[in-house]
Amino acid sequence: MNQSLSSQSPPDSFPVDQWYVGGFAWELTDKPLARTLLNQPLVLFRTASGEVAALEDRCCHRALPLSLGTLEGEGLRCGYHGLLFGSDGQCLEIPGQAKVPSKAKVRSFIAQERDQILWIWFGRDELLAPLSEPPAYPIHCSGDYRFAGDVYHYNAPWQLIHDNLLDLSHLGYVHLHTIGGNASIHMNAQMQVSGDEASVRVVRYMFDSEPPPTYSAAYPFKARIDRWQEIEFNLSHLKILTGAVDAGSQPVDDPQRGGFHMRGFHGITPETDTTCHYFWTMATNPISDPEATTRNVIEQTRQTFDEDKLIIEAQFANQQRFGERPMVDIHVDAAPNRARRIVERLRQVDSV
Ligand code: FES
Ligand SMILES: [Fe+2]
Repeated sequence: MNQSLSSQSPPDSFPVDQWYVGGFAWELTDKPLARTLLNQPLVLFRTASGEVAALEDRCCHRALPLSLGTLEGEGLRCGYHGLLFGSDGQCLEIPGQAKVPSKAKVRSFIAQERDQILWIWFGRDELLAPLSEPPAYPIHCSGDYRFAGDVYHYNAPWQLIHDNLLDLSHLGYVHLHTIGGNASIHMNAQMQVSGDEASVRVVRYMFDSEPPPTYSAAYPFKARIDRWQEIEFNLSHLKILTGAVDAGSQPVDDPQRGGFHMRGFHGITPETDTTCHYFWTMATNPISDPEATTRNVIEQTRQTFDEDKLIIEAQFANQQRFGERPMVDIHVDAAPNRARRIVERLRQVDSV
């Protein structure tokens, strides 16, 4: 089936046998974290020895959310009658009762921390091991980059964020006051869209252009610059690389290129059929006044993402208000439509 923006598939199922982002490492503190992912209410926590855990957020005794409990050693103690659960969901202790029945257990999900991202495996069969390692994102651990990020909750389905991030043309309209600049430059810049059965790649280069204010503040460019914008979509996350070198100084399509970089990580995980979580970080390598420049880059990124949130939530509210109606595709929809076909294909693979 040709899946496009104008023919949305039923939003009530998500591809499984996949890793999804459940949070960032720094969100796991001395308190359990409640978070619903793929319609599953979970409690996430880190044990005293540093292991990360994800359990169904429901005590098997009388169904209190376990996220209202407290962390204790290698487990989580329910806040009602004190049952203690290990990271595998098994009840370890029932206060005042010597024997713990083996069925005293809550469902656990496989959770792994990698490069400061907390990944949760959602498998078709909870007893089977993950089919792959969680995705790597070494930028978070590179000494060459400073980064920060945040978690946004969206009153909109996850695919509307995919659409937005894969379409650079909105910069000139939505982000006019931040990174946008001239709308016609963004609409008319040459763009290459490619990909395979699991990813979409959008590449755009802009040669011999004026450095935007953020760039000149961060990096000692001599004069004009050659810029790149590279987007890579994967089911659970997108990576967006932008940056620039002095015009004519080196090839912009060389992965080892120097210059100024802004590298965005965008983890997008459904919460429910109509809401989602957006986990983002921005990493950069400023030369001039690194601390202040990074703060500035993060602040501008945040403003930009706030602008997107306003648009996307308004878009979804209006889609609901008007109900199912055909929508018209235009040239900027090529990459978003590819991503939709991938999501649909993976969803169908799961339902076979
Ligand atoms: S509800 Fe959790 S211990 Fe009773
Ligand atoms: Fe945007």
